[in-house]
Formats: sequence, structure tokens, C-alpha cells
Amino acid sequence: MSSDPRLIVAFQKDAIPAHLCHAIADIAMEAIGSRGAFTIALSGGSLPGFLAELEGVFDEKGQDPKLDCWHVVLADERCVPSSDDDSNLKALSENLFSVLKVPASQIYGINESLLGDAAAVAKDYEETIKSVLEKSGGQLDLAVLGFGPDGHTCSLFPDHELLKEETKWVASLTDSPKPPSSRITLTFPVLNQNTRNIIFCGAGESKGPVLRTVFKSLDKATDAYDIPNGALYKVTRDDEMPPYPSGMVMPQERGLTWIVDADAMTAAQSAPSPY
Ligand code: 6PG
Repeated sequence: MSSDPRLIVAFQKDAIPAHLCHAIADIAMEAIGSRGAFTIALSGGSLPGFLAELEGVFDEKGQDPKLDCWHVVLADERCVPSSDDDSNLKALSENLFSVLKVPASQIYGINESLLGDAAAVAKDYEETIKSVLEKSGGQLDLAVLGFGPDGHTCSLFPDHELLKEETKWVASLTDSPKPPSSRITLTFPVLNQNTRNIIFCGAGESKGPVLRTVFKSLDKATDAYDIPNGALYKVTRDDEMPPYPSGMVMPQERGLTWIVDADAMTAAQSAPSPY
């Protein structure tokens, strides 16, 4: 069973990248040291904008990121070409891969020749994910995910039938409430059973009510201690899964970390608790 999640509250939004990039770097180094490879899934939305400091964090630590060992997949993708402004891969390329030089052959996008058929894109991408994960013992080392004010994560939306998916690792949808409507997404079977570490990241007061609902306790008190530009909370969750897709993500093997800014936390603390 996994342990309680960690919640890091960055004092300002612009302190989020440092917390996030340090956490990613630590997991990358551990994975490469243990298994010789690092497999990571990344989301879109505001997340790519938080990743630009990653290379600088390795410099600061005096560590070689060993980018030849990295394999990057998409936690979700919109069914558009990678040249389109809606493409998550495009956002990641502009914000992250322009600086962090992961070999292009180890950054895995969707098969654009299948774009007219979202189900075919998902099936093809599932094969890609499975072969990538063989490089890290059949498990994804890390998924870095955003969460929406409606509680969605990846392209798993509240009350959507994909929340009941039990076998596919990658699924398609053509009715995403957040445009564009046609997308592919990782599912709970891979996130909860085949992922070693998950980091959620989000900023702003619109994220407060989701945070309030995902965690049973959010009190700072004796459970928090100071870290640079932030505070670490040891939060607890209820045994029952919170109703939001982001609250239903709980990797079985190891770590779950949430990183938010003070605006999200303040809004969470003043939102009514469901417990
Ligand atoms: C997408 C994203 C999505 C995102 C959340 C949060 O393709 O739309 O991958 O899952 O992470 O919507 O986005 P924000 O951080 O921008 O609110």
C-alpha cells in the first residue's frame, strides 16, 4: 500500500517550478541509478510552463541528468498535429525540450497518420507506452499531472465513462468538455497500478475546492515544516475515494505528491470541507 501523500505549498506561484523540478530530478536520478532508465509522462495545460527550470536544477545540484536514459510519453494528448497550438507535445517542446535536450527519438508523440480516428490513435499509443515501460521494469517511473477546477486530470473528466476503464492503459474520447473534444489519455489502470510516482501540480484559487475535497485533513499545525519558499504538509485522505478524477489517482507502489501555490491553498482552507 502507498503511504500518505505529501502536499507542498509554494509561497508564490513562481516558486512552483523549483519545487516541481527538484522533485522530478530526484526521481529521475533514483530511477536511472536503480534501473538505468527514467520513464516519465507529462501533461499539458499550464504544466509545461512549470518545467523550463528543469535543466537549471540539475546544474544547481551538480548532477548530470543523463538524458540518454530518459523516455518521455504524454499523459494525455489532443488529437491534433504536433504543429498545432493545441498540441500538448508542442507546448512541451517549446517550454521544456528546447532547453532539456532529451534525444528526439525518446520523446514519444502520437501517431499523426491516424489522427482522424481517436480510438486508433489511443490503441497505437498504448503499444508505444507498453514498449517504453519495458525499459523501466514494466512501470512508469513518474507521471506529472495537472488538475482542472472541475477536478479532471489527464483527459479523465468527472462522470465520464472512461473513469470506469479497467483494462486499457490508453483510451480515447471525442466528447471532452475541455476543447478540443478529441483526445487520448492515460487511464486509472496505468496510473494507479503501473506508475511508481505521481506529482500533481496546480496554481490559483480556482483549484482550491478540488484540493479541499481530495484531502481529509489540510491543517498546517505540527504536521508542516518549512522548506525554501514553501511548506510541506503531511495530509491525510479518506479511505473512500474523493469524487474527482484527480482524487481517484493513488499510485499503489509509492509516492503521491501534490504541489500547489498559496492561492490554491488559501482557497482550499476557506472552502467547506466535505468531511
Ligand atoms: C490537457 C491537459 C490537462 C491539464 C489540466 C489542468 O490536455 O488539457 O493535459 O489535463 O493538465 O486541464 O490544466 P491547467 O493547469 O491549465 O488548469
